[in-house]
This record gives sequence, structure tokens and C-alpha cells, in this order.
Amino acid sequence: MRIGNVGRVLLVVVGVLVAVPAIAVVVALVRYDRARSVPMPDVHAVTDPAVIARGRYLVYGPARCADCHTPDDARPQLFKGEEVPLTGGPGEHTYIGTWSAPNLTPDPVTGLGRVSDGEIARMLRYGVNRRGRIAPPFMDSYANLADDDLVAILSYLRSIPSETGTPPDARINLLGKITLAYFLDPYAPTKTPPVHLAPDASAAYGSYIANTLAGCRTCHTARNLETGAYTSPPFSGGLAFHSRLHPGQVYVSPNLTPDPATGHITAWPEDGFVARFRAGLLIPDSPMPWGSFRRMSDDDLRAVYRYLQSLAPVHHDVGPVLQAEHGQAAG
Ligand code: HEC
Ligand code: HEC
Repeated sequence: MRIGNVGRVLLVVVGVLVAVPAIAVVVALVRYDRARSVPMPDVHAVTDPAVIARGRYLVYGPARCADCHTPDDARPQLFKGEEVPLTGGPGEHTYIGTWSAPNLTPDPVTGLGRVSDGEIARMLRYGVNRRGRIAPPFMDSYANLADDDLVAILSYLRSIPSETGTPPDARINLLGKITLAYFLDPYAPTKTPPVHLAPDASAAYGSYIANTLAGCRTCHTARNLETGAYTSPPFSGGLAFHSRLHPGQVYVSPNLTPDPATGHITAWPEDGFVARFRAGLLIPDSPMPWGSFRRMSDDDLRAVYRYLQSLAPVHHDVGPVLQAEHGQAAG
């Protein structure tokens, strides 16, 4: 069969249209698992009891590590504010794959026994794990952790008894491999992280808790759930989470800015805010780590309240807290 010039051009065009995406996918299958190079933070665990006590407060309190790194069947104890062993959790089930939240105890096989202080700190500051790989930014709020809080967390993790638990495990689908290959880079501190921050009830310290330690911003802002990118102004709410008890429905994080019409806590008095946190979990399958946050000190809670009330109001109506699922949802 003879094909004319037009036919030849068409063949080349079709060939390119098929070959380019095919090559991009083949490259993604290798490129997604590449090692990422970021600085290794120079911080080291210590044995000072005061530092360990601060680490324990952070891990089970505002920094909410326990919320993800403890087993699912221990959630009732966790929500009561108890210290459940950090043997690992069910992990994150996303559109692009599943990542376990591994054992944080010093067990050498499944835990952090053979993971260096620098590697743990690198995970928190850049999201780069012991293998040098990244996942979607599950822990990105910790990028700007103060050096001495990093040391406190490390020191506490090194002080707890060793227990076997959930090892690291990632199951990444094709969309995930393409996303990791081309669209996701390690997160990083937005400025040089502070060396030391003295806790007090000021809005300035509240900013550190809400943005960094407690990650209020990471849930109370709408996000693209493939890349983690933020899609609404900070703290204006709108991130949806699947409800376990109400299939087909989602919890939507409320707007925490002091907007008169759409802000969820605009009219709350400071004492009411503190009392709400002390009450802990009220909605049985809420994704918010109420068990961790009920352990926060009064000063820390007041600091968060003062910071949130100091934000510029954002008019963003996110609808009722429980609503029919539409669009993307986490968890
Ligand atoms: C929102 C859930 C979530 C919270 C909160 C959380 N983690 Fe994680 N963590 C994960 C997931 C998911 C992974 C797996 C990431 C990966 O494989 O790259 C992980 C991995 C880790 C790892 C293992 C890194 C490695 O080398 O494999 C360490 C260490 C860790 N987290 C420490 C902490 C500490 C300390 C805190 C609190 C300051 C914390 N995490 C809070 C979900 C969470
Ligand atoms: C893992 C996601 C997540 C994190 C982290 C988170 N929230 Fe929430 N928050 C939610 C969701 C979802 C709701 C709606 C369900 C509920 O009320 O429990 C909510 C509800 C609230 C409410 C309304 C409670 C009520 O009774 O009306 C307040 C206030 C609040 N969050 C403040 C905060 C603050 C302050 C922080 C940080 C210290 C924070 N949240 C961290 C997801 C989160």
C-alpha cells in the first residue's frame, strides 16, 4: 500500500502522540522511587529529663504524633487522652497509594532502632524518609519545628521502651508513581527554623502551634489531595474527610478565621474555646485529633485562640460540618 505525504505526516503525528506519554510513564516507573537530596539536620537526642518531658508533651499533645502512629483499635483510649504505645498506625489511604505510619519505638526491626537522629529529624523537616524517598506531604506542618522541639521529640522517642509494630510500607499506584515522578518535591522550612521558642500565651506563639506544631492549618485549609497543594486561604476551612460512620458523607473542616458571617469561632469567647478543647471528642468519628489536643496546656490553647482571632477574616462558607460527599475527600 502506498501512502502519500499527508499520510506520512499523520503517521508521525500519531506515533509521537502515542510514544511521548508511553515514554513518560515508563520513565515515571523508575523516577518516582529516586532518592531526594536535602540537608541532614544536625540535631541529637539528649537524656535530660526536662527535655524528654517536653518531647512527651509534644508527641502526645500539640504535635499529635500519637494520632497517626498508634493502632486503630487503640483510638478509644487515645481519645480519652491516654498514652498509647507508638507502635504504628493504619497509615494514610489516598487516591495515589497507601503509606503505613510506622512504629516509632526503638525496635531495631520494625521501629527506629537503626534510624539515626539526623534521619528522623530530616523526615520531620523535609518529609524525606530513611530510604531517602518522599511520600505525599502528610507531615509537612513540621518543616518549621524549632531546633529544641526537634531535640525534645527525638529525645523522648529514644527514651521509650522498644516494642514490635508496623514497619514502613508504601503501596503506590500508577497515578501515584506519575505524581511522585513529576509533581512532588520534598517540602522544606519556609525560613531558617527558630533555635528556641519560649512557650507563652501570645498570638505569636499561637502562630507556631497552629501552623507548625499542631498543623491546624494543614486540615483547616482546602487542599488538592494528590499533591497536597493548598487551594483556599490559610485557616479558611474546606478540607473534606470521609466519615467512617456515615458512608457517602464527609466531615468538612470549619473556617477558623474571624469572619463575621462564615467564621466558625468568630463569636466564641476565649474560655469557651479552651473548654471546647478540654471536652475532647464530641463527634465520634471526627478526624480531628481531639484526644491529643485535649492534653494541651491552657497557655497553648489561649495562644492558638489569640492567633486565630488575629487573622484577617476570610469569607468562605464551607457548609455544614457533615455533608454529602462531592469532589475529593481525605481519610
Ligand atoms: C497525619 C498523620 C501523621 C502524623 C500526625 C505524624 N506522622 Fe509520622 N508518618 C506518617 C506517615 C504516613 C509516614 C510514612 C511516610 C513515608 O513512608 O515516607 C510517617 C513516617 C514517620 C517516620 C518514619 C520515617 C522513615 O524513615 O521511615 C517517623 C520517624 C515519623 N513519621 C515521626 C513522626 C513524629 C515524631 C510525629 C509527630 C511530631 C509524626 N510522625 C506525626 C504519618 C504521620
Ligand atoms: C486532621 C485534621 C484536623 C486537624 C489537625 C485539626 N482540625 Fe479542627 N477540625 C477538623 C474537622 C474535620 C472538624 C469538624 C469535625 C469536628 O467538629 O470534630 C474540625 C473542627 C474544629 C473546630 C470546631 C469544633 C466544634 O465543636 O464546633 C475547631 C474550633 C477546630 N477544629 C480547631 C482546630 C485547631 C485550633 C486545630 C489545631 C490545634 C485543629 N482544629 C486541628 C479537622 C482538623
